[in-house]
Amino acid sequence: MYGMIHKSLQDMICEKHGKAKWEEVFINSKADDEAFLSLNNYSDNIAYSIISTASKILNIPAEQFLKEFGIYWVLKTAKTNYSNLINQYGKNSFELLTNINSMHEQIASVFINYAPPIIETKRIDPSTLHILYRSTRKGFTPFMLGIIEGLAVYFDENIVIEYVRRHETSDGETTTFILRKR
Ligand code: HEM
Repeated sequence: MYGMIHKSLQDMICEKHGKAKWEEVFINSKADDEAFLSLNNYSDNIAYSIISTASKILNIPAEQFLKEFGIYWVLKTAKTNYSNLINQYGKNSFELLTNINSMHEQIASVFINYAPPIIETKRIDPSTLHILYRSTRKGFTPFMLGIIEGLAVYFDENIVIEYVRRHETSDGETTTFILRKR
């Protein structure tokens, strides 16, 4: 994962739980100082280690922690640094989610060799979106759930996630979501 993901995890833990807790997570995760350069690519093991250590130390189930991280990622990290990009690819959640592969592709010139998920969408009717999320990582579906929730807040929409079904695959996971706009 790119360092900006680690940096955003650090920012969230400092903001919500204080710097001392972050120091504890950092030391116990055995990540080193070098792992926080935003535009460097690191082994996924570092992100997994920060997440599982934070879950233990903060006493928050890993899935809940990752979901909160998805919300934070949209409303703090992406909103602060990439709002132009978000606004360029969608003026509401359904539009942005439908264009997210193109958006991730556009930034592939900056994030060399990165591995964002593939997201296929199908608009069933004006208020219903089916999403098929395919990741080369295991365990990131809750992050996606948090991103969806964060986007609804970002665009000031009332969106309910009506259905989630996750399947592990040999090299990651595939999850179906059904979103309904109210
Ligand atoms: C707007 C700014 C955004 C930027 C700069 C960005 C960039 C990135 C980066 C750098 C990664 C890490 C991948 C790696 O290091 O291999 C990532 C992962 C991810 N991105 Fe984006 N992204 C953005 C928005 C979004 C949005 C709106 C979605 C909503 C669908 C999304 C979905 C994801 C997911 C779910 C992952 C986790 C990796 C996985 O599932 O395998 N991203 N993104």
